[in-house]
Amino acid sequence: PHPIWLTRHGESVFNEKGLLGGDSDLSARGDEYAKNLSAFIRERAGDEHVNVWTSTLRRTIQTARPMTQNHVAWRALDEIDAGVCEGMTYEEIRQQMPEVFNARAADKFRYRYPRGESYEDVIQRLDPLIIQLERQRSPVLVIGHQAVLRALYAYLVDRPAPSCPTLPIPLHTVIELTPTAYACEERRFQLAP
Ligand code: G3H
Repeated sequence: PHPIWLTRHGESVFNEKGLLGGDSDLSARGDEYAKNLSAFIRERAGDEHVNVWTSTLRRTIQTARPMTQNHVAWRALDEIDAGVCEGMTYEEIRQQMPEVFNARAADKFRYRYPRGESYEDVIQRLDPLIIQLERQRSPVLVIGHQAVLRALYAYLVDRPAPSCPTLPIPLHTVIELTPTAYACEERRFQLAP
């Protein structure tokens, strides 16, 4: 069985400022993580070919940059679309759009941001990617985003979908999932602070 590695992009400039969404570049720490990730995969994969999948956003493509493999950029891996809240902090949403803040807190799984998406929407758009993922005959490294990886992870380890919006998917950590007959073996590697 081939491992599937899941990771978020390295820290971005928006992450540093606590801003939602957007399409910002990696921070200096994020660049550092990209290098560590490349070294980690090289060591762990050995001679095996690795499929590297990113979203279409700059921060995941930049995270793949130090790697020698070509990558495939999937729109299905783009971060949850926060619609009218893109570029805001959670505190700004709480103060300026309390109805959005409260409705999302009440049902984070089904709540759809105005002109954006819900976790349920994200799960739907991941379908074609999951089909491709299960067809691969070599290891896959998925470089994604917090919300989209929560959804993908929940599917792969067979957790109920509605529980996915609060699953911990920390930055600078690789989640290694190795499918076995009945379950997935999981290991986590933190590669940078
Ligand atoms: O920028 C979006 C976040 O990665 C999603 O986090 O669904 O917990 O607000 P959240």
